[in-house]
Amino acid sequence: MKKQLTSLLLAVSTLTVTAQNKATINADEGKAVINRHIYGHFAEHLGRCIYDGFYVGETNTKIPNKNGVRLDVIEALKKMKIPNLRWPGGCFADTYHWKDGIGPKAKRPKIVNTWWGGVTEDNSFGTHDFLNMCELLGTEPYLAGNVGSGTVQDLSEWVQYVNFEKNSPMSNLRQQNGREKPWNVRFWGVGNEAWGCGGNMKPDYYANIYRQYSTFMNGQVGKERIFRIASGASSDDYNWTETLMKNIPVNMLEGLAMHHYSVFSWDEGKKGSATAFTEDEYFRTIQQALRMDELIQKHSAIMDKYDPQKKVALVVDEWGAWYNVEPGTNPGFLYQQNTMRDAILAGATLNIFHKHADRVRMANLAQAVNVLQAVILTKGDKILLTPTYHVLEMYNVHQDATMLPVDLKADDYEVGKDKLPAVSVSASRDKAGKVHVSLVNINPNKPQDISVNLKGLKASGVTGRVLTSAKVQDHNTFENLNKIKPAAFNGAKVSGDNLTVTLPPVSVVVLELN
Ligand code: AHR
Repeated sequence: MKKQLTSLLLAVSTLTVTAQNKATINADEGKAVINRHIYGHFAEHLGRCIYDGFYVGETNTKIPNKNGVRLDVIEALKKMKIPNLRWPGGCFADTYHWKDGIGPKAKRPKIVNTWWGGVTEDNSFGTHDFLNMCELLGTEPYLAGNVGSGTVQDLSEWVQYVNFEKNSPMSNLRQQNGREKPWNVRFWGVGNEAWGCGGNMKPDYYANIYRQYSTFMNGQVGKERIFRIASGASSDDYNWTETLMKNIPVNMLEGLAMHHYSVFSWDEGKKGSATAFTEDEYFRTIQQALRMDELIQKHSAIMDKYDPQKKVALVVDEWGAWYNVEPGTNPGFLYQQNTMRDAILAGATLNIFHKHADRVRMANLAQAVNVLQAVILTKGDKILLTPTYHVLEMYNVHQDATMLPVDLKADDYEVGKDKLPAVSVSASRDKAGKVHVSLVNINPNKPQDISVNLKGLKASGVTGRVLTSAKVQDHNTFENLNKIKPAAFNGAKVSGDNLTVTLPPVSVVVLELN
């Protein structure tokens, strides 16, 4: 009997909340600003991202559009406060010749998209289409230049075409093509994944190539020099970062990229389903995502040696989850669904970026529409906002706010012999003085209690929003668009400098303290 009672008590205790999560928000220590550009996105000529996703063509009468760009997508991305958009790739960028995409559409050459599905690219969405779309979105364009199969002249002429005011062959050409004023593009990538699809280069070779290309990328945007971003390391390739930082003078470099995907196996067909996954697969995906903290620390430490004043930004211009494509879809199109697992991944990753706000000043989730960890999926004239969309929309209160450092002692979330922190926390103070706290419950099986000491802050009230669902596999579908959407949250209490929160299992929460 006694044994039965003990087992019953044990069983009950595993269902109730834990009380070990403790955090201190150092509200009196904020220095670094969370650059809004860490909330950037990525649109590649890949699968249905551009064609069907952003662009349905000027002659489309079924889907409301402006110059062929779908207005439902524009409206949703504006609401999310998209700060920048990277284009045209990815791997596609190093095959892209920008002059193919200007002038009368009927005369533009057709090419084969060799990286993504071998489909015909008719170049109907080119430089004018993209940059005008960015104006519609109110977002800053980030153009990725072709280094792998282009020339120094091509890239320097692209800069002149979009940025030179007048009286140059390229600005004259732009004006002939109907655009009087330059677009003044600040962000420029000098190739993409130069260690792989961008040319399989060695780091010292690319460092020289970078120096050559960037020398001829002239011009200012406002008072600042254009922002040149070197193609960076894949995940933990620290030698790439070391070689570039050693060989490129800091005054020739504004940003250094890094790519990290949360994928537990790169073997073909072994990345797991986006929706039908086990707890072990959930655990391993989030484990890969949380590696971002260590990756940033180690790449930053190398950058600190050569750039102690942190002039060069670490730009994580591709991040997110990568699964098997949805059954029945083109394997070259990288179309995947998006569940609460992805919401948790996004919330925890953004909290890591905030923590490193002094060095990570730009990032791009891969990708915006219909590809990888998309914020929007489209089907005909319908659009679906994914759980990841809702996290980015809820978190936009952190854009350009001052990061408040957090000390966290988290409970463990264990699967087998492995463990992860059960919660992730970040905080910031916006320009109006409001403090926001974002929290993620990583443990899908248990609610989490967290007690937060607000050091240097007395709050009198708290409001919040939560994104939650019963299971990590839950997702929105075209039949049920609103299964997962933010709701009011009433699981937080504040009294003076003490905040207590109970996070439901499978949840992302953003609080506002008053
Ligand atoms: O985002 C998909 C691909 O992943 C990009 O084209 C490439 O840069 C990366 O390998």
